[in-house]
Amino acid sequence: MSNPMVQIHDVSKSFSREGFEVIALDHVSLDIEQGDFLALMGPSGSGKSTLLNLLAGIDRATAGKVDVLGTDLARLSESQLAVWRNAHIGYIFQTFNLIPVLTAFENVELPLLLTKLSKAERRKNVRTALELVGLEDRMNHQPRQLSGGQEQRVAIARAIVTDPNLILADEPTGNLDAKAGEEILSILSTLNRELKKTIVMVTHDPQAAGYATHEQHLEKGATDGQRMNVGSPIHDSKEIDHASKAQDIRRGAWHAVVCRGACDHPCRESTGVVPTAKADHRWLYAGLYARGMYCRAQEERR
Ligand SMILES: Nc1ncnc2c1ncn2[C@@H]1O[C@H](COP(=O)(O)OP(=O)(O)OP(=O)(O)O)[C@@H](O)[C@H]1O
Ligand SMILES: [Mg+2]
Repeated sequence: MSNPMVQIHDVSKSFSREGFEVIALDHVSLDIEQGDFLALMGPSGSGKSTLLNLLAGIDRATAGKVDVLGTDLARLSESQLAVWRNAHIGYIFQTFNLIPVLTAFENVELPLLLTKLSKAERRKNVRTALELVGLEDRMNHQPRQLSGGQEQRVAIARAIVTDPNLILADEPTGNLDAKAGEEILSILSTLNRELKKTIVMVTHDPQAAGYATHEQHLEKGATDGQRMNVGSPIHDSKEIDHASKAQDIRRGAWHAVVCRGACDHPCRESTGVVPTAKADHRWLYAGLYARGMYCRAQEERR
């Protein structure tokens, strides 16, 4: 018997907020085998997104062990995690999280900017990924020129362009109509069946779960009485120092990249990108993406 690709053993995760402890996951154990397409279901607030974030190494468990692809994620430093995540994880978000000022091609290319691939190799891989999701004819479109379903297909292409071992999707059809949702689900199903990708998909929709090969229900991440009900996840953003660098992104528009969480570093430190006079803002985005910060980043235009 081979080892499961993902081993979550007795994992708890708590957040502290205004003096209260919010227990998002309480002693959860779960194995995921290579080649599984797992639908992770459960009521709102049961810790599904928290669990995905732990698998991606975006957050760290408070207790217990998260082992993904034979790596105990607790042993990796933040920068090691960023490299590891970029190489092994593809993340798809409910709200697509494409960079509005970049084309579909440039959005998909982001994770590759942090690899050693040449420009020609990057181009080839981006094309292949966009072809896989049926969007080769939309490469030069910006997100606002695409439908929601097409945006999500670009986001899938971005998630698979590095050929990751594990694809994590957090309610990937949550913002789509039924038809677009079905297209996304059938792409995920193809990735699983034909390209043998292991997928963990959070969904509320039993029909969406029907595309998966396995289902796992998460009932309240915590035991009764312990979990504080604080309503929806927190968005107390702290403006980070990406703002000043992001100012260059587009002349005339002031963009602030706002990040939820503790990002104390100026972007050039946190992304490892040393800006030059001709700094290409795509590197900044690529760095944020790899850091898992991008998933929480939003753009504000003023
Ligand atoms: N950064 C955070 N700080 C404090 N509490 C948090 C944070 N992130 C999540 N939580 C809390 O942890 C619990 C689980 O949240 P999580 O987002 O994982 O739930 P979910 O199952 O994904 O819910 P939904 O279906 O609504 O997306 C909730 O009570 C939530 O408020
Ligand atoms: Mg969620």
